[in-house]
Amino acid sequence: MFLMIFTFSCASRLNTGNRPIDKMLRKLQQKWKVNGRKLLFILFIFATGGSLTGYISKKILSAFQIENGWLWTFVYILIMTILWPMIILLVSIPFGQFPFFLSYIRKMGARLHLIKTNKRTLQEIRIAIFASGAGSNAQKIIDHFRSHAYIRVSLIACNKPGAGVLNIASRENIPVQLIEKEKFFKGNAYSDELMAAGIDFIVLAGFLWKIPTSLIKAFPKKIINIHPALLPGYGGKGMYGQKVHEAVIANHEKESGITIHYVDEIYDHGTIIFQDKCPVSPTDTAETLAKKIHGLEYKNFPLVIEQLLSK
Ligand code: GRF
Repeated sequence: MFLMIFTFSCASRLNTGNRPIDKMLRKLQQKWKVNGRKLLFILFIFATGGSLTGYISKKILSAFQIENGWLWTFVYILIMTILWPMIILLVSIPFGQFPFFLSYIRKMGARLHLIKTNKRTLQEIRIAIFASGAGSNAQKIIDHFRSHAYIRVSLIACNKPGAGVLNIASRENIPVQLIEKEKFFKGNAYSDELMAAGIDFIVLAGFLWKIPTSLIKAFPKKIINIHPALLPGYGGKGMYGQKVHEAVIANHEKESGITIHYVDEIYDHGTIIFQDKCPVSPTDTAETLAKKIHGLEYKNFPLVIEQLLSK
């Protein structure tokens, strides 16, 4: 109960508080890339799991009638070390934090050379999402990789001050790179900034500007886009958002879908990686079709990104 009140009181002051503990919690939040609610759960699980492990370890020691002394301390530490990961994982299940703790324990084990991991587990792959709209796809991608062992959404790039995706970035504590037209098209297209931020992969999710050659060259085969129709149909300059769905409906298409493709110098043109379809019914409007398409995007985009980055 005390633990619960303590963690709740810490989390409630997370964004405003100026005490050392508030600053420390904000740092943790940034390090683990989690929102306030999730941080609260994580702290609570750490505290509960730790106390439970201590309690069970002492019970085991007394069951074996080991008296206080060097042997007691040695066995206590040994049991704690073995039990703690198992108990913490168990406690994390009802709070929905199992993936976070599994990846946390794996990383710890690898750092201590207790478990063998493939090198990649520790080497982060950092994604930048380029978006200029509401950012609902960006949100799904962030959610998907929140507790991933090595893939991180590390940056949101946006060319539209006030876009919804910027609220998502601030809520999720993800750094933002605002893109200015002049610098994007006449300069190095922010390649230096992206490199400096350690970005490995770029995902366009509702970013409407054409990607300059300099950026494509800086990230060869490392920029992908999602288009809300079945390319090569209904793509190209000016084909975005509702306009795509209106054109599909005006042509009485029986089906539409999504296309995930590599980005090259031509709008909606690079090699196709993945497509998924949905039926278009005679009663569909641009709005109802947009809903179906968003459903396909949410279901597939994060998984396709994960597959590409796991090869
Ligand atoms: C998506 O429909 C995507 O296909 C297109 O832009 C839209 C972005 O929507 N490239 P949101 O900002 O993710 O809600």
